[in-house]
Amino acid sequence: MKSMVEIAHAFLEPCLHRQAVCVDATFGNGKDTAFFVECGARLVYAFDIQKELIEKRRGDFDERVVELIVDSHAHLDRYVDKPVDAIVFNFGFCPHGDETITTMPKESVEAVRKAIGRLRKKGRMALVLYPHLFGEQESDALERVLRRIDPHVATIQRVESVNTKAGPFVLLVEKKAGETGRESETI
Ligand SMILES: C[S@@+](CC[C@H](N)C(=O)[O-])C[C@H]1O[C@@H](n2cnc3c(N)ncnc32)[C@H](O)[C@@H]1O
Repeated sequence: MKSMVEIAHAFLEPCLHRQAVCVDATFGNGKDTAFFVECGARLVYAFDIQKELIEKRRGDFDERVVELIVDSHAHLDRYVDKPVDAIVFNFGFCPHGDETITTMPKESVEAVRKAIGRLRKKGRMALVLYPHLFGEQESDALERVLRRIDPHVATIQRVESVNTKAGPFVLLVEKKAGETGRESETI
């Protein structure tokens, strides 16, 4: 059976053509960015607040393809000025890293709202949510926001295990209307 990350990647893959613009909103160890690059994306914006994680992998990516950004994904609108084909968020803390540095509900909501605003028509976004210190608040806040989105603007599905209580789950978003750049018009 596929892991939640594999489900997220399989969902995003059809959007990853040679001109694809992507966002990895939580770079961590860089696995999602590597996935976008391997699928042939033209440009990947990769965010993380932990500078050392970004620096550790800087040499592994072509700087013409991957723009590594040490800043919060809540500021995504300051860097991403193009319509985006595929976006991934892996929330929580970095595996094998500092478990006290996690994504935070308020910033996560702000980032997801902005990300949806940047997605082009038929663009896709995968949100992988894990148990962590603020995980429950984060998933509640995100689902509250996503539930309010007009189904004419985006289709949203949740994939989860039915027999693990606090396991990870994934929210899959496909944009139906085009990119507006303005979060308030889509949510
Ligand atoms: C679950 S890990 C990501 C795993 C990663 N995608 C990989 O392939 O290894 C979550 C990451 O989000 C980062 N993070 C936490 N808050 C953030 C924020 N506001 N903006 C961007 N990244 C953030 C953490 O530093 C951590 O590295």
